[in-house]
Amino acid sequence: MDFDEKQSFVLGGNAMMVKLSRFYWPPLLILITLLALLSFQITSKTVYPIKIAFTSSTSKDDIVADSRTCVGFFGELPERKAVISIKDFGGVGDGKTSNTEAFRKAMRYVQRFGERGGAQLNVPEGRWVTGSFNLTSNFTLFLEEGAVILGSQDPKEWPIIEPLPSYGRGRERLGGRHISLIHGDGLANVVITGNNGTIDGQGKMWWELWWNRTLEHTRGHLVELMNSQDILISNLTFRNSPFWTIHPIYCSNLVVKDMTILAPLNAPNTDGIDPDSSTNVCIEDCYIESGDDLVAVKSGWDQYGIKMARPSSNIIIRRVSGTTPTCSGVGIGSEMSGGIFNVTIEDLHVWDSAAGVRIKTDKGRGGYIANITISDITMERVKIPIRFSSGSNDHPDERWDPKAVPFVKGVSITNLVSFNSTKAPVLEGIEDAPFGGICMKNISLLGVVSSPSWRCEFVSGFANDVFPTPCPQLQIDNSSSWCSYS
Ligand SMILES: *[C@@H]1O[C@H](CO)[C@@H](O)[C@H](O)[C@H]1NC(C)=O
Ligand SMILES: *[C@@H]1O[C@H](CO)[C@@H](O)[C@H](O)[C@H]1NC(C)=O
Ligand SMILES: *[C@@H]1O[C@H](CO)[C@@H](O)[C@H](O)[C@H]1NC(C)=O
Ligand SMILES: *[C@@H]1O[C@H](CO)[C@@H](O)[C@H](O)[C@H]1NC(C)=O
Ligand SMILES: *[C@@H]1O[C@H](CO)[C@@H](O)[C@H](O)[C@H]1NC(C)=O
Ligand SMILES: *[C@@H]1O[C@H](CO)[C@@H](O)[C@H](O)[C@H]1NC(C)=O
Ligand SMILES: *[C@@H]1O[C@H](CO)[C@@H](O)[C@H](O)[C@H]1NC(C)=O
Ligand SMILES: *[C@@H]1O[C@H](CO)[C@@H](O)[C@H](O)[C@H]1NC(C)=O
Ligand SMILES: *[C@@H]1O[C@H](CO)[C@@H](O)[C@H](O)[C@H]1NC(C)=O
Ligand SMILES: *[C@@H]1O[C@H](CO)[C@@H](O)[C@H](O)[C@H]1NC(C)=O
Repeated sequence: MDFDEKQSFVLGGNAMMVKLSRFYWPPLLILITLLALLSFQITSKTVYPIKIAFTSSTSKDDIVADSRTCVGFFGELPERKAVISIKDFGGVGDGKTSNTEAFRKAMRYVQRFGERGGAQLNVPEGRWVTGSFNLTSNFTLFLEEGAVILGSQDPKEWPIIEPLPSYGRGRERLGGRHISLIHGDGLANVVITGNNGTIDGQGKMWWELWWNRTLEHTRGHLVELMNSQDILISNLTFRNSPFWTIHPIYCSNLVVKDMTILAPLNAPNTDGIDPDSSTNVCIEDCYIESGDDLVAVKSGWDQYGIKMARPSSNIIIRRVSGTTPTCSGVGIGSEMSGGIFNVTIEDLHVWDSAAGVRIKTDKGRGGYIANITISDITMERVKIPIRFSSGSNDHPDERWDPKAVPFVKGVSITNLVSFNSTKAPVLEGIEDAPFGGICMKNISLLGVVSSPSWRCEFVSGFANDVFPTPCPQLQIDNSSSWCSYS
């Protein structure tokens, strides 16, 4: 996210409207079949734990057959002993009544099943207004078809919580920050899924506070999970987040798949998915259009992120498509002070965006970016298809250390085709810390509209089969074992 860039952005009418492309559902994607997921309606006020049967109908051979799925990052879709409905807690899905108490009561109730087979909370068809609530472990939040959870328009229903230790303050404002609409801390085994139900943050109020500069505390996310593991978020539509949409931080073994994430193309900082200081994260088959990066990998901010030293690593981002007119398809950084390594980005399709893949960092960030593998990328009308940049001068406070320069080594980009970009790649490293091991292979930038020559500064690496001819800096280091490795 770039706060500076967005402030001056004005959406050019409907010209940015794009067709929502259908998901690509790989045939072997569905390995686990829910045989009998029935929504038992509970008639009385009493809630009974209801057992539902799940069976795995696929063999291990199928799992091996398509290795390019998130299988392995999250176990089988867990069976839950108790299945209850938000209606059992007095919920009213009329689009007006506040269900904050109903959701909080439901969550307190399901907590008791944590040690006893877990619980699933169903949200039936309807429009369910709510303030923030916290999830629990061994739990599934299931949005049935036509179910819409709507974020409360009362900021008090998004109470202020502590800043994240790796940021030292709210990302936008000093001090605490608004909690996310759906929040979890210290959890294990959580599923947020359904038959394409919707969670709508109704973020407009928050974007206006930001636009008119009256925001007091950093905006909340739609979903934030902290210090958690074994998380699956799938088969839903998330809309209109006040701020970054899905924010896993200090998490491991997290899958986000088959999601549609939407926000107006001018909605500030509405990043799609931001894995932050998290490891073993797999994101696939997502369609995202928003006012900021579709996916941004992060790991904390300047001295706070350096001190915490929690990297983001072992991350796969695959079959993601979408558009963001002022930002990037996939961004690495700019907050990366805890380090980012072993990120694989493949089958990315981006159009009408400012950048395709972007690495953003700065002096003061410290940390490192290493072993980023990017392949099979298609872009149309992306202004700068590949961009490395530094120097946004965006620091948490005056205590940042100018000597803390990031270390960037090993970025491989192969099999990329871009149509009608405005510029050739712009690769700007840092003077005292040039970016090394930049490897480009089989790249075609067709129909570059205005500047077809590459702009490179403080980078070195190797290029092979790249059109138009890359900058000389990419023709010097051909011995890098990393390049031949990938
Ligand atoms: C979740 O379920 C597992 C397996 O049954 C159990 O070991 C664990 O204690 C449960 N966690 C919580 C927080 O209830
Ligand atoms: C949710 O958890 C946060 C801490 O993670 C806490 O501050 C807040 O009070 C909790 N909210 C509810 C409704 O329990
Ligand atoms: C889910 O709903 C969104 C928004 O209505 C729609 O664009 C998307 O195609 C739907 N996804 C599936 C798999 O049906
Ligand atoms: C800023 O936006 C908020 C939310 O829409 C609104 O309540 C407030 O009146 C606006 N303030 C100014 C100064 O325009
Ligand atoms: C997602 O939806 C598909 C199609 O309805 C279904 O087969 C699959 O089991 C669901 N996956 C998850 C992880 O919820
Ligand atoms: C890189 O990450 C992938 C995906 O999480 C993992 O399978 C692989 O083992 C990791 N590689 C290294 C060298 O750690
Ligand atoms: C990057 O990959 C190379 C080659 O596999 C490996 O030797 C090196 O340890 C990796 N570095 C990091 C930080 O993952
Ligand atoms: C080069 O990349 C294109 C996609 O951009 C791909 O279709 C083609 O197979 C690649 N060529 C080789 C030799 O890998
Ligand atoms: C690229 O620009 C040319 C010339 O304006 C146009 O014919 C073509 O359709 C454009 N292609 C894409 C993918 O935008
Ligand atoms: C790589 O460098 C070696 C030694 O400098 C040189 O002989 C060789 O031709 C170079 N290979 C390529 C593909 O540029």
